[in-house]
Amino acid sequence: MVLSRDTIHTFKQFYCKEKSEAELPPRLFLGSILPIFLGLFILYLLRPLKLKRYQALNLLKYKTWAFVESLSKCPKHGLHNPFKSPERYLLYGDISAKAAHMLSLPKVSDFFTRLIQRVSPKSYQQAFGEVYVTQKFLENFSGDQVRFLARSFAVPGNHIGQQSHGYRWPYGPVSIITPFNFPLEIPVLQLMGALYMGNKPVLKVDSKVSIVMEQMMRLLHHCGLPAEDVDFINSDGKTMNKLLMEANPRMTLFTGSSRVAEKLAVDMKGRVKLEDAGFDWKILGPDVEEWQVDYVAWVCDQDAYACSGQKCSAQSILFMHENWSTSSLISKIKDLAERRKLEDLTVGPVLTVTTDAMLEHKKKLLQITGSKHNHLR
Ligand SMILES: *[C@@H]1O[C@H](CO)[C@@H](O)[C@H](O)[C@H]1NC(C)=O
Ligand SMILES: *[C@@H]1O[C@H](CO)[C@@H](O)[C@H](O)[C@H]1NC(C)=O
Repeated sequence: MVLSRDTIHTFKQFYCKEKSEAELPPRLFLGSILPIFLGLFILYLLRPLKLKRYQALNLLKYKTWAFVESLSKCPKHGLHNPFKSPERYLLYGDISAKAAHMLSLPKVSDFFTRLIQRVSPKSYQQAFGEVYVTQKFLENFSGDQVRFLARSFAVPGNHIGQQSHGYRWPYGPVSIITPFNFPLEIPVLQLMGALYMGNKPVLKVDSKVSIVMEQMMRLLHHCGLPAEDVDFINSDGKTMNKLLMEANPRMTLFTGSSRVAEKLAVDMKGRVKLEDAGFDWKILGPDVEEWQVDYVAWVCDQDAYACSGQKCSAQSILFMHENWSTSSLISKIKDLAERRKLEDLTVGPVLTVTTDAMLEHKKKLLQITGSKHNHLR
């Protein structure tokens, strides 16, 4: 394009005119500097809200969205059911058989036993018990057993051709929350049970001990568990609660404190199954046989102090008929309890109760008529 002189002239005129007419200093101040200052001032006011990168990543929304999304992909008729993908019943039979075999290898069971001991104070024997029960559970659901678990029933109706059928039906997207005291047994049994029936669980194990289950997940994947069948989350309770509220699983299986259980029951509008602890009484009746005393003392000691007393069958309180006071039961329990020591983890340290609180509690207990104080070394 060739510009004519006239055009260039007009161009120059136009721009020069504009420039010369512009009242630069006041406009600059009111038009630019003032908004800049205002902007800076507002930024200054908003300073506490400014988020660093890691803080933004820490926001609950970003932490849980992947889990919410993953759960929402599972339909409410589950990953399999009696009408859909029945081959998966056999798949889970295979996974169980392989996992049971792996856990039966001394090298593997020793690894898990020691790993449990690292995070949960129990003796080798107690920790091994957990691995053993898990192994037996998996063995029991080998081969065809998962399929038979989904056995349905039919009942004849009133009229010809009428029949009612009952099917074992999955919930679909579900969640499982498990406590610290059994880092392997509780999560594996509950998780596999949910999976056998075609659910897609998001699993949260207490974060203090979740390394055990993390390793177990790897073992299960090695044995053929499809990676997208389970979501494994490591988080605090608050994040998990947020996740549950957003993902809205069709069932939540919770094992833990009654305080959290009550909150969950409300939050999940009753769509929960609870496996809570109890206050377990042991009552020794009037019949005392001297040959039984050794065994009774051993059971009392195991129930009260093995696994630091952190199990569902723990002995919370012992009542005995006065006939027992003439026997050697108390002194035998005392001897057994005294053998426990922290070095071999036959007893665990108390972290959440202070000595004062404990002594205060003992004082209150001694006010119960007939209660006894058995002094340990
Ligand atoms: C084996 O599984 C069946 C259900 O199929 C169950 O009733 C039984 O208690 C289980 N046995 C053991 C030892 O886990
Ligand atoms: C206590 O033991 C004695 C002797 O063994 C027995 O005769 C008695 O019946 C027992 N007491 C009760 C209340 O059973």
